[in-house]
Amino acid sequence: MTNKPRLWMTCPAFPEIIEQLSQHFEVDASQEEVSYSEAVLVEKLRARGDLQAVFTAGNARFNRAILQHAPALKIIAAMTVGYDNIDVRACTERGIAVTNTPDILNQTTADFAWALLLATARRVTEAEQFLRLGQWNKWQLRGFLGADVHGKTLGILGMGRIGQAIARRSMGFDMQVLYHNRTRISPEQEAAANNASYVSKQELLERSDHLILMLPYTEATRHCMGADEFAQMRPGAILINTARGGVVDDGALIAALKNGQIAGAGLDVFENEPHFNPEWLTLSNVVLTPHIASASEPTRRAMQQCAVNNLIRFFECGDVLNLVK
Ligand code: 8YV
Repeated sequence: MTNKPRLWMTCPAFPEIIEQLSQHFEVDASQEEVSYSEAVLVEKLRARGDLQAVFTAGNARFNRAILQHAPALKIIAAMTVGYDNIDVRACTERGIAVTNTPDILNQTTADFAWALLLATARRVTEAEQFLRLGQWNKWQLRGFLGADVHGKTLGILGMGRIGQAIARRSMGFDMQVLYHNRTRISPEQEAAANNASYVSKQELLERSDHLILMLPYTEATRHCMGADEFAQMRPGAILINTARGGVVDDGALIAALKNGQIAGAGLDVFENEPHFNPEWLTLSNVVLTPHIASASEPTRRAMQQCAVNNLIRFFECGDVLNLVK
């Protein structure tokens, strides 16, 4: 036995991460990619009664009831910026610190929002499929006609740090940027975000040619894009969701895409991941990716390093760098 605090990692990590953690913790590392059900999570926590620290991604939900099975827990360090899988209020009441990874993935996620927008507007994956299926000999003048991105109006719902990074990238595409956010950003931030204009949600829906969602999932944002919102959008509009599953009502979006209310969608996040609605696979006007917006090698490593720094600091100095409140 050592007297190092006991740490459980709910998700795989890079070797250097486990190595560093092993110097400070009695590490229970897993290289298995698991999306934990509540029952399995309870089982795992019960089996580790004196667990003091958890390193996690979005693959385990720490709600109030679950936390009761970890009586010695002092810190949950998420290697993600979003923390909707953790009941922060319940943690705070129990004196459990929660940390996340702000800023680290802003640029990589903004890059990916653009990858999805361009791929969806220009029907990249659909055209690739055609080529892979050996159908190039059926090439047509009107084949894969898509929407332009340059010169259009870009809407952003959720103008935090990632939303602003997305807006900055629109300068090269000569776009006008509109945004809606809980609070208006400063004039300096608006200027840096390609002179983004703050508008009501309704105006954003009505005027955007392409709309990117980049807001956190909370009780207030759940299904903030549903049937009513799709009905207000332009018929040729494209919707991109790099935010969180649940921000969009997936059933309503499928209906809007089927009846041509909007033209296309690029989606990295879904309701009930990874068991998403199979109807998505029947639509051709969508680009679908499995929650990979932060997945560049340097960014993923930096996200894990940030969680490590928080864990080590917590046990060495009693504070953390990225406390979620
Ligand atoms: C992934 C994310 O969830 O940081 C977040 O909030 O959504 C993503 O980066 C993460 O990388 C893997 O779980």
